[in-house]
Amino acid sequence: MMFIVLEGIDGSGKTTQARRLGEWLSGLLGRERVLVTKEPGGWPGGDAVRRLALGGSLSSVWGEFFLFMTDRCEHVSGVVTPALEKGVCVVCDRYTPSTLAYQVLSNPSIGNEAADYMTGVSEVIGLPRPDCVCLLDIGADAARRRLEARGKLDSFDAKGRDYFERVRAGYDVLMKRSPDGWIKIDASGDENAVFGELKRGLERRLGTRLSGYAA
Ligand code: TMP
Repeated sequence: MMFIVLEGIDGSGKTTQARRLGEWLSGLLGRERVLVTKEPGGWPGGDAVRRLALGGSLSSVWGEFFLFMTDRCEHVSGVVTPALEKGVCVVCDRYTPSTLAYQVLSNPSIGNEAADYMTGVSEVIGLPRPDCVCLLDIGADAARRRLEARGKLDSFDAKGRDYFERVRAGYDVLMKRSPDGWIKIDASGDENAVFGELKRGLERRLGTRLSGYAA
């Protein structure tokens, strides 16, 4: 089993890269042995949680935190774990690092040690650990320009540029804590260049496992 997670700020191109990664892995392993999924909302019933989490009606960051965790627990137990148990390779667009970066590390009034504590909570819950977290790294200004071109600036402008720079810095904190499990990709180039770098990074990190898997 192999569990690959894509992370990055809004506008980093994760969703496109997750799709391309799914296509590449399907060519390598067979379509039935690859699942591309996402958080929040990647499980039956997930749409309602996604709407609530992103609807802007929650006033507590911890309310948001636990809602994203609820979404994750349901997604893992109903979708991710059953797939991994069947030997399917799972590509997940966002996972625990999103909650730690967006809800915890981005928040100047919460100390970074809260991220350790919350990582501990994920371990107690028994959430599966990704084999590789691929961080698509891009500055907030470049990400904003991309979202603008797609006409999707609502949440970006509501939260502000500095928030996304703090989320980006939060990802760096997480990566420094477990460098073995992460690869960082420069996501500022065009789609093909970013995918090339992602593929090479994964081949380096998971190479033997990828070929063993395909066998
Ligand atoms: P998406 O645009 O990648 O679908 O993600 C939706 C938004 O949800 C995005 O702004 C990031 C945010 N989010 C969190 O704030 N915390 C989380 O734990 C997750 C999974 C997403």
